[in-house]
Amino acid sequence: MRFKLWASCALGLEAVVARELQKLEVAEIQTDNGWISFEGSNLDLARANLWLRTADRVWWEVASFPCRTFEELFQGVKGIPWGEILPVDAEFPMQAHTYKSQLTSLPAIQRTAKKAVVEVLQSHYRRLRLSEEGDHYPLKVFLVADRCRVLLDTSGSGLHRRGYRTWNAPAPLRETLAAALVQLSVWNKERPLVDPFCGSGTICLEAAMLGLNMAPGLTRRFAAEKWPIVGRSAWEEALEEAESAFDERTQLDICGYDNDPQTLKLARLHLKQCGLEGRGISFREGDVRRLRLKGKYGVVITNPPYGQRLLEIREAEELYSVLGEVAAHNPTWSYYVISSHPKFEEFFGVRAQRRRKVHNSMLACQYFQFPGPKPPKGEEG
Ligand SMILES: C[S@@+](CC[C@H](N)C(=O)[O-])C[C@H]1O[C@@H](n2cnc3c(N)ncnc32)[C@H](O)[C@@H]1O
Repeated sequence: MRFKLWASCALGLEAVVARELQKLEVAEIQTDNGWISFEGSNLDLARANLWLRTADRVWWEVASFPCRTFEELFQGVKGIPWGEILPVDAEFPMQAHTYKSQLTSLPAIQRTAKKAVVEVLQSHYRRLRLSEEGDHYPLKVFLVADRCRVLLDTSGSGLHRRGYRTWNAPAPLRETLAAALVQLSVWNKERPLVDPFCGSGTICLEAAMLGLNMAPGLTRRFAAEKWPIVGRSAWEEALEEAESAFDERTQLDICGYDNDPQTLKLARLHLKQCGLEGRGISFREGDVRRLRLKGKYGVVITNPPYGQRLLEIREAEELYSVLGEVAAHNPTWSYYVISSHPKFEEFFGVRAQRRRKVHNSMLACQYFQFPGPKPPKGEEG
């Protein structure tokens, strides 16, 4: 079967998701503010869920139609062969989203769409009562500019839930954003990586998973695993591929530092839960004021305090200056810093070669990029 799929992601990360889709050899069709569509088979659907590091979810577009009235919404949803998609006991919660459309009331949109699905199932299965006690089929009607997309969430819980982060430190980065920061940098598995403000270790762990070609969804479950329309064999094949793609040999050189010993305990727990102990990833207690970078051509990727959720603004600014001094003493290294502070570069002391707008939760941030010189051949590791 062919599916029209959508990967949703945080605003600003569309190009990174599209690049990941290219690696999965599925063609991007269209990009639209936090949404990237592509077409694929059952296997592509399973692979996208297992491998996308920077997307939030993978959705199947079951139908799409013009929709200006509740009648058009009802008939559009009713025209979908739900009996071929949902089993008799399916649990199908309905979410709605509307933007620049005639229909604006979310509860009324949800109710109308749900009623249409219920009517189709009642008639298909010849049942008045639908128990909704079976497998999970999260539905969404997504109205944009008077066009309705009916979407099924194939991921279930968000793809940032890899399974390794069971406890959160203060102001943690979302795993999907951390994976994007690493992919937007020059880091590769041959180079040392340091995060001087590592907190619960998200950047280091996402880099490690990328460096070892470990599928981020390797140890978690997805809603569509149980859907007959997708089939078990696609998931089994995708999982087998991911297991054999995992690099079991390479030793990495990744180190996270933080001055808070409690937070470091979490980072070490997450490393263990990732199953990557003994692969060259370490978390050490240390204040950035005493940071010494060893070797050449390494990469610093970090999410320091912004002076909003953690520390006072002046303290954050002082840390940016300290980081700038580290950079001045280690000119072969590359530096990548996410911050919401608009004047970060003034304190760091150098203008960024590139700045990229990204959102960290609700905070508008910039990703300041200071790539260093390329290592001469043979000097990477
Ligand atoms: C924004 S948090 C990093 C969160 C991390 N990216 C995560 O995903 O968990 C900033 C971290 O900087 C640490 N920190 C604050 N001042 C520091 C200093 N002077 N030296 C080293 N770490 C510091 C805090 O303990 C905190 O864990």
